[in-house]
Amino acid sequence: MKTKKAYINTFGCQMNVYDTHRMENMLAAAGYATTDSFWRADLVIVNTCAIREKAVQKVYSFLGRICGIKRHKPGIILAVTGCVAQQQSQWLAERFAGVDLILGTHAVTRLVPYLEQLGPENRPIIDVAMRTEIDPPADDVAEKIENADISSFVTIMRGCDNFCTYCVVPYVRGRETSREPSRIHAEVEALVRAGAREVTLLGQNVNSYGKKEALCGFPELLRQIHDIEGLLRIRFVTSHPKDLSDGLIDAFAKLPKLANHVHLPVQSGANRILSKMNRRYTRDHYMQRVAALREARPDIAISTDFIAGFPTETEADFEDTIDLIQKVRFDTLFAFEYSDRPEAPAARFNGKIDSLEKKHRLRKILDVQADVTADIYHNLVGSTQTVLVEGKSKKPRQDIVEMSGRSSENRIVNFVCASSGLEKETDLMEGQLVNVHIERACANSLWGRFVPDTAGLKPAAPLSMKGGKTNAA
Ligand code: 5AD
Ligand code: SF4
Repeated sequence: MKTKKAYINTFGCQMNVYDTHRMENMLAAAGYATTDSFWRADLVIVNTCAIREKAVQKVYSFLGRICGIKRHKPGIILAVTGCVAQQQSQWLAERFAGVDLILGTHAVTRLVPYLEQLGPENRPIIDVAMRTEIDPPADDVAEKIENADISSFVTIMRGCDNFCTYCVVPYVRGRETSREPSRIHAEVEALVRAGAREVTLLGQNVNSYGKKEALCGFPELLRQIHDIEGLLRIRFVTSHPKDLSDGLIDAFAKLPKLANHVHLPVQSGANRILSKMNRRYTRDHYMQRVAALREARPDIAISTDFIAGFPTETEADFEDTIDLIQKVRFDTLFAFEYSDRPEAPAARFNGKIDSLEKKHRLRKILDVQADVTADIYHNLVGSTQTVLVEGKSKKPRQDIVEMSGRSSENRIVNFVCASSGLEKETDLMEGQLVNVHIERACANSLWGRFVPDTAGLKPAAPLSMKGGKTNAA
């Protein structure tokens, strides 16, 4: 019986989502259930992100609220984990008197022992040591995973050695370290046994997987995972354009489970800015990699990240960015106003761009891309897409069963099955690949109708193990 309740608020990227799942698993074994409400929690964990100024501000404001509540409910244990904990441990301890535990990016696996050690006189406990080992300790083995999301994450490496001049990651996540392929394989197998049908392999730069440790390369890792029975799709993030190898492009040609999508952050379309960012590729190199990918998979969807208003970015540089968006025709993109990170060298660069101008450039990037995405999506109306069904659509309409999933290109597809009465069939659909005839395109999703005779529906995993969170509340 789980008597204690934990509430985890996760900020930031998929690495943090993965760490949150790991903490949930460890807490479940220690007798904690997870709850969606911090009012009911005995333990509140704030898993933090430091990538941009705005993310850090959100963390501070949430911590302020929790500390306010804690004054009336002093029994709550408050833990701060992740990148802000790593970066600002002392300051957090001084500024937020209610914090009991501060665990940096390499310390999440020691959460439970620290909870047991917490006494009235030793708060806060702070552990921000950077360690070399990456796999979790023996009591957190993958085999214990009981429930996995249909689409699950697996970290294959952590840290980064690239030192892009704007980026805080190398300072808060440490040097690049890859996990053993056999342990990754075991974790993916365990996730599939627990109901996962798609895995996303996570790393700051997956293309350099295993190089430092002389493990197998990333394409070989993909081949090994590809053989796992019951796994339907493999995704990965993030690829650095300088390291996107011919071997990986070949994997796209040869491995059908590899999703038809690649996230390839470019950051800028101007060579001068790419060089100041220390990205170590040119615009031409990027375009050439895109062309090679499209040769291997003509309809591959490519998404990217841009930073608007990097120091010294001129109008002409910015025009190069807009031109690149139009030439590459990304499926979708994420764009951010440049923000100073105190550890990162660009914080000390001259030629900072005015805040209003950054906003204006960001808006322009998003507007130009919105037209490209709309065009791509409208061209898909009338096509049939294979969708991995993740569950019921978030905004169901009365009497109509609407399901939701993603196409191989990572596009959200909502679809109508039929009038109600088919609940059983729709339950069976979760975790299956089904065909959907696309009837309508929205700004960020597609809508269509289930094509019945193509599915051949059968339960892919024991139904009790499908979907859901990694542990039951
Ligand atoms: N300012 C703005 N955007 C940033 N990113 C990383 N650091 C910064 C920063 N200091 C963006 C990059 C990266 C994404 C995860 O966040 O585009 O690819
Ligand atoms: Fe940051 Fe660059 Fe490493 Fe990505 S590759 S995490 S942007 S330093």
